[in-house]
Amino acid sequence: MSDHAPEHPEDHRKDREPTRAEMPPAQEVAGVRQAVAELLDEVVTETAPESLLDTSKLRGQVAIVTGASSGIGRAIALALARRGMHVGFCFLDDGAQARVAAQDVARELRQAEVRTYFRACDVRESVDVSDFVAEVHGELGGVHVLVNNAGIGRDRALWRMADHEWEAVVRTNLDGAFFFTRAVAPYMRAQEYGKIVNVTSVHGVRAEFGLANYASSKAGLIGLTRSAAVELGPRNINVNAVAPGYIRTTRLTDGVPSEILDRAREKSALGRLGDPHDVAGAVLFLVSESARHITGVVLPVDGGYVL
Ligand code: NAI
Repeated sequence: MSDHAPEHPEDHRKDREPTRAEMPPAQEVAGVRQAVAELLDEVVTETAPESLLDTSKLRGQVAIVTGASSGIGRAIALALARRGMHVGFCFLDDGAQARVAAQDVARELRQAEVRTYFRACDVRESVDVSDFVAEVHGELGGVHVLVNNAGIGRDRALWRMADHEWEAVVRTNLDGAFFFTRAVAPYMRAQEYGKIVNVTSVHGVRAEFGLANYASSKAGLIGLTRSAAVELGPRNINVNAVAPGYIRTTRLTDGVPSEILDRAREKSALGRLGDPHDVAGAVLFLVSESARHITGVVLPVDGGYVL
């Protein structure tokens, strides 16, 4: 086209404002705006699904784990620390080996870049338990989670069971959990927030030969879990229990005859023994915000042993 070619009237169509006659009617514009707003509303409300485990709130909070110098307690303490929780833990000082094990766990916890406070504290001693909880509160700056894990067994046919075998087990597994729950309750009630998890056992619901003391203590712990859930729930404190089946810890592999472990493996639907991390995962779920509407339950972690 030459420089002087006459302009066609429609050549500037893209640049000019539309005439009134070319504009859509006002109600049509309003309708389009409404449709766009509705589409945007749908986009906002339909977000991507969240991951099941919401542990973000735990970061910077403080957990107490009883009996965390070995086995299941150690795995729980590490799982909480790896989610950013400061961890206070106690253990039974029954020899140099126990003290070394506790120091090793404390070192592992610090590797997760959280603070830790630990010392020997016998869960059967109610005054020492109260002191320990106050110390954790002072040293780590709060108490938000309690895991009552410390526990022992002294297996024997009940007609041969000595008084001290009965007492040691019931006082450790049941009284100890009560003393700790009572000691943390004022802190948790005041802040209107708390998570308590009790480590009971499949033997709290299923009888086995030689476990009268252990089964009674663990069944009692289920009663304590439900009572505490009712009494502490109004202050936003969740109280739950996990009921592990046979879990491969040294207590189990050193103390339980291999034929019993083989039978346990056969009886479980998944055909295997559990690992301490299996229990830690369940505890992590129960203290997370994903489980905020769950309280008073007993969650089996037994590979389908009690089916
Ligand atoms: P573990 O013997 O490895 O650990 C027990 C922990 O409790 C240790 O840290 C010990 O120092 C502490 N403890 C014992 N008596 C205490 C006391 N009087 N005061 C303070 N701390 C004390 O045992 P494991 O296997 O890790 O068991 C942990 C919990 O899990 C126990 O409550 C046990 O009954 C329960 N459980 C274990 C199962 C398993 O197959 N290993 C199965 C079901 C439940």
